[in-house]
Amino acid sequence: MRDLSIIEGGAMLVEDGCITNIGPARRVENLREARSADEIDASGRVVMPGFVDSHTHLVHGPARLADYEARIEGRTYSEIAASGGGILSTMRAVRSATARRLEANARLDLARMAEHGATTAEAKSGYGLDEPSELKLLKIAAALDGQPIEVVSTFLGAHALPPEFTSADTFIDHLISVVLPVVAKRRLARFADVYCDDGAFTVLQAHRYLLAAHRLGLLPRLHGAQHRDLGVTRLAIEVSAVSVDHLEAINPCDIRPLAQSDVMATLLPGSVFHLGLTRYAPARALIDAGAAVALATDYNPGTSPTLNMQMVLSLACAQMHMLPAEAVVAATINGACALGLNSRLGSLEAGKQADFIVLDVADYRELPYCFGVNHVVKTFKRGMPVAARKELFSL
Ligand code: NIG
Ligand code: FE
Repeated sequence: MRDLSIIEGGAMLVEDGCITNIGPARRVENLREARSADEIDASGRVVMPGFVDSHTHLVHGPARLADYEARIEGRTYSEIAASGGGILSTMRAVRSATARRLEANARLDLARMAEHGATTAEAKSGYGLDEPSELKLLKIAAALDGQPIEVVSTFLGAHALPPEFTSADTFIDHLISVVLPVVAKRRLARFADVYCDDGAFTVLQAHRYLLAAHRLGLLPRLHGAQHRDLGVTRLAIEVSAVSVDHLEAINPCDIRPLAQSDVMATLLPGSVFHLGLTRYAPARALIDAGAAVALATDYNPGTSPTLNMQMVLSLACAQMHMLPAEAVVAATINGACALGLNSRLGSLEAGKQADFIVLDVADYRELPYCFGVNHVVKTFKRGMPVAARKELFSL
């Protein structure tokens, strides 16, 4: 994860949305195909792969500002959830919102993601929690794919227990027998996700749900060990999950088995920061043990209202002791791995899709170092500009 294969004075040739050649400028510029190419001059700047934000709750209701204030005043995430805030308050807002409004908001968010350098984003459902509302969220995500960045859908049917059900087991049965088959038949999601934690679902319930999803062709991924580790890592390994996400509370004994597996450890420091907590996931121990680590925003109104991957990199470096190079890898190629898209996305190599960003820095380490500002000058998806910073103008 420390090897970025930087090309100083590099150039990249793009044709039909794909990278056809990359290397030192003096070689690439002299290629026959390069002579008729349009030139984008990025001299003095860093050009790198666009961020692959592999964990977001893209389509959601309004901001949860009362939760935010309550937390500042000292109430915990679970206390706030128990008194009418939390995931179920967003669920109520999502159920009553029109698809049009939700889509309009998510469209703006995708444009802002592109402005901040993301070229691909995963989008989870999970705020509808009944069949029509979950389908509404998944259809919106599908409609937004490519508008302007790529959207990869995950069915997070098992995010929380909705009020119509009193038993989590009965709800999981309902998801398995009723909702999952519809999602799979209509090809509305590539992945299935479940929240396995205190106040959410148990390992047994998560296991049942993920196995049923897998049988229908949806690949498993997990939220877990955010507040307490119920054994989510072992479960992720057992069901060959693509990724296990959060892990702030991971049992240290599970780090080695995770490192020896093919499961991505996706870390979400934005949620720790926003919740005002101090326990970040043990990125250093994971990486040192040989685990593959990805970084994502976890963009959602409850725990991580940021869509800025650059801020996530700053948090990863300052709070989780990841080196800038490790953070860049985690936010690009490893994010692509976490979505099973690494053969096409996540790095700048001949044959890959030309998803790249131009930054206003001369050294990539300035990206996390100079935090809280947007360094992205221009974002390209499949070789085409999809976001550009407006030039500063004088008054
Ligand atoms: O990833 N952990 C569960 N789900 C979200 C938060 C959802 C919410 O509070 O609205 C997360 O942090
Ligand atoms: Fe999440």
